[in-house]
Amino acid sequence: MRLSRRFVNPGAPNAVARERLRLAAAGERLTDLTDSNPTHFGLGSSLAFDAVSRAAIKARLYEPEPKGPRAAREALAAHFGGAPDDYWLTSSTSEAYSWVFSVLTDPGDSIAVPVPGYPLLEPLADLAGLRTLDCRWHYLPIDGWTPDYADFDRAASQDARAYVLVNPGNPTGAYVNEATASAALEACQKTRAALIADEVFKPFNLEGRPTSLAGEDRTVTFAFDGLSKSLCAPQLKLGWIRLSGPADALEPVRAALDQVADTFLSVNWPVALALPELLELADGIVEMTRQRLVQNLTTAKRLLGQDPWRLRRCEGGWTVIVDPPKPSGSDQPEEENTAIQLMRAAQLAIHPGWFYDIAEPGALALSLLPEPPTFEDNCRRLRAAITVLGAE
Ligand SMILES: Cc1ncc(COP(=O)(O)O)c(C=O)c1O
Repeated sequence: MRLSRRFVNPGAPNAVARERLRLAAAGERLTDLTDSNPTHFGLGSSLAFDAVSRAAIKARLYEPEPKGPRAAREALAAHFGGAPDDYWLTSSTSEAYSWVFSVLTDPGDSIAVPVPGYPLLEPLADLAGLRTLDCRWHYLPIDGWTPDYADFDRAASQDARAYVLVNPGNPTGAYVNEATASAALEACQKTRAALIADEVFKPFNLEGRPTSLAGEDRTVTFAFDGLSKSLCAPQLKLGWIRLSGPADALEPVRAALDQVADTFLSVNWPVALALPELLELADGIVEMTRQRLVQNLTTAKRLLGQDPWRLRRCEGGWTVIVDPPKPSGSDQPEEENTAIQLMRAAQLAIHPGWFYDIAEPGALALSLLPEPPTFEDNCRRLRAAITVLGAE
């Protein structure tokens, strides 16, 4: 049988993944320094699950509303702005991408994506039969993560149907500033493309002030958010799309989104009915999580931020990028090799930067979610292991 070309053959697992499987099969217990599953670190609140249990009783009677229950959308509008009719509930942010891709594109079309920005963008585009046009971000010593504006123009010349901005990026932690937003908007206007703003990490600002593209009215804009981050509850499976833009352009977009929503009716009703209560909880959960992230970032700066180590600026989100010193005796630091050596010698699993398309070799992505004593211990173990590997 022939499968769709959407399913890109992933090929054999890379050397890091193979080594990890081998060590796991040998009974080795690795500490995963990149783990960004909040449920592994005591984040979130059992009150959220109590609210869903109560709502489940009300959900016995089901009157489908494709966009999600009105009360849920009213709560979103009250919390984040806009009108209830500007919101569509989805079962996740990933599903929101798929809905918006089907509204905006035909198979074979292109979308512009930030690189690095969010590793799932390419597989999501593949599943929609789309090509991705890379808009590269570079890390500059003083300015931090900065987009290459020429890539926006290049994407416009290739008729990009949408520009994705991940605000802040994962794992870059960089917010989209006004200059970048304007460049993307200008590019959108050249080909009547839309803006997709993924803002699931927006409230977790650590250094910078958060920015937002939700409600942007200069071009058609789809802003994504959801409970997986704001409640630290990816298993509740609820996201939403907020639509905004010039009033005269929105009517056909609303109709198309309604049609997709009506076709799938994918939203889980107990969670959707609980949304007003869940949003009340979200602010407290975000703040508790944010405080932990800030504390861990301070620890990382202290332990991994001094020359010859470098900790990249992290304005927001759950991950920080660290550049360890080059292994001595090697002109060409082999990031794959470092990740493998860290697993073998120190039982530390960590994603190398190239997993995220970070250009510089050797960068490592460190999750800021663990409990602070564990995080501090992880930083010390990482530092000691790199020293043993002959890097300092
Ligand atoms: C930037 C970004 N967007 C979206 C998601 C997925 O969110 P959801 O669980 O709602 O699909 C993630 C998950 O890590 C993410 O990092």
